Amino acid sequence: MDINKEHSHYNNAHFKRLAPVYGFIELFVKDVRKGVVQSIGKEPKRVLDVACGPGVQTRAIAEAGHSVIGIDLSPDMLRYTKKDDRLNIQYLQQDATSTNFSDSEFDVSTISFGLHDMPERIAIDVLKEMKRVTKPNGQIIIVEYNSSGSFLSWCFLRLSWFVETKYYWHFVQTGLDSYLKAAGLAERSKTTYLLGNLQLVQVINTK
Ligand SMILES: C[S@@+](CC[C@H](N)C(=O)[O-])C[C@H]1O[C@@H](n2cnc3c(N)ncnc32)[C@H](O)[C@@H]1O
Repeated sequence: MDINKEHSHYNNAHFKRLAPVYGFIELFVKDVRKGVVQSIGKEPKRVLDVACGPGVQTRAIAEAGHSVIGIDLSPDMLRYTKKDDRLNIQYLQQDATSTNFSDSEFDVSTISFGLHDMPERIAIDVLKEMKRVTKPNGQIIIVEYNSSGSFLSWCFLRLSWFVETKYYWHFVQTGLDSYLKAAGLAERSKTTYLLGNLQLVQVINTK
């Protein structure tokens, strides 16, 4: 079986189990959700939210006045998205490694807590696809786990492993920087949250 098919099977089985309880993470990530919205800015933009899951971040972006498309591989996670006719928001089931969007179609693309749930090769392909569909000088925003290097941070990251996929620990050990470099992206700014255990990284798409 090829790596994308294997990932798709594993991913959809994992999130079928997790989807009903996934909402509990919102207790810990309110600030970083706001951080993503602030990073996009006030001027209305066309945004792609990759690996959107149940769409809490997608919705927060739309509530700030942007037009957003959220894509995800898991039908079970998408089932928890909420319809709201007042918002300019659309959800699609798509593999983020090969979307059907045109080159440079979006002002901004975002991915929150998605890359650590993929094999490294797929995560790098997803970043390259985000680069392709985002305009030159547009923003790519990534939210991920971050290791602050302290013992407490190590404990937090190890505990998180209980609910995470089999790719998670490799991501934590390898680090986001290495994934970005492999995709030809360079960090512009980084803000940390939750005692340094989460990071919000902004990249400018220089193409
Ligand atoms: C931990 S959830 C993150 C959900 C959401 N972004 C958030 O901030 O809560 C990770 C999501 O990545 C999705 N995913 C994994 N591989 C994907 C791929 N190749 N294409 C699209 N979505 C993918 C999973 O289905 C899952 O919904």
